[in-house]
Amino acid sequence: MNGKGERMARIGVLGLGLMGSAIAEAFLVAGHSVIVWNRTASKAERLVELGASAAGTPTEVLAESELTVIVLSDYRSVRDVLDEINGDSRRPAAATVLNLTTGDAPAAIELRSHLAPTGIMYLDGAILAYPRAIGADADVVIAGPETVWDAHRPVLMSLGSGTAFVGEQIEHANVIDTSITGSFFCVAMGAFYEATAYAARSGMTADKLVPYALRWTDQLRTEIENGAREIVSGDYTTDQAAVVTYEKAIAMITESIQHSGQPAHLNAALLENLRAAMAAGHGRDSLAAIHATLTKDVGA
Ligand SMILES: NC(=O)c1ccc[n+]([C@@H]2O[C@H](COP(=O)([O-])OP(=O)(O)OC[C@H]3O[C@@H](n4cnc5c(N)ncnc54)[C@H](OP(=O)(O)O)[C@@H]3O)[C@@H](O)[C@H]2O)c1
Repeated sequence: MNGKGERMARIGVLGLGLMGSAIAEAFLVAGHSVIVWNRTASKAERLVELGASAAGTPTEVLAESELTVIVLSDYRSVRDVLDEINGDSRRPAAATVLNLTTGDAPAAIELRSHLAPTGIMYLDGAILAYPRAIGADADVVIAGPETVWDAHRPVLMSLGSGTAFVGEQIEHANVIDTSITGSFFCVAMGAFYEATAYAARSGMTADKLVPYALRWTDQLRTEIENGAREIVSGDYTTDQAAVVTYEKAIAMITESIQHSGQPAHLNAALLENLRAAMAAGHGRDSLAAIHATLTKDVGA
């Protein structure tokens, strides 16, 4: 038991880069017993000082852990390490792994199929946070067999207060990561830097833009909820701003940025989406009609 009366678990961590190290440390802070392995062994030293034990091989980690968390650069590396374990005569007959390496939906599906004959129980997850949020308020989404999640839930909650099970479809954690961290957040930040660069051409510094960017960020919260409601209901009528209005404004903004001598890649891409929505008959609908246009082949 740890200081809070919770059962101490024996947790393995494979991969001690920036994220894996933060994860191993969070398990230690929560009072669990942690065994770690990293390809470059020296990265385990700091964690050993904090109380972890260092394994010589990834097989040793799996053999000694009730749950092994894997955090490597990509799924190719994960598969290589798991293949090495499966080819090792000392490998345990059964083990549970949670792979938190960033990847896409097909990668999670393929890895689950690859592991199915091996006796390794597989959870797949994604981290929607920086290492500093691990052990605090990180969002870590996890998919796979619910019974396996249930068995390890108390331990996994040490990763962050936003740790959540997102269903048995193994690719769903990666779908959330690709759509929200990748397609939404990263592109939004990229758009912010297109904006700061454009303003800089008129001598305006980025800090002057911050209050307005934050006001629009508040507005984003409302619009995300409104847009999702429209998508779910299939009703895209608006009494606020129609696709044709956005198209006119974004065409002007794209041209204006380009005339300043700067590419307007993200605005130009949005303009294409708006024009496709108009071509699909959504000119008088809300901005969420972009969703209806992009999904018309699958009807989602
Ligand atoms: N950092 C973040 O803010 C963040 C946020 C969300 C998700 N993530 C995801 O977390 C994962 C790790 O990111 P990170 O920031 O920790 O990266 P990192 O600091 O570059 O660490 C990469 C880790 O992968 C190991 N590795 C790479 N190729 C390997 C191979 N072929 N065999 C064995 N080990 C291998 C490295 O081992 P060596 O030390 O030997 O090179 C190291 O432990 C990535 O998928 C990343 O997208 C990171």
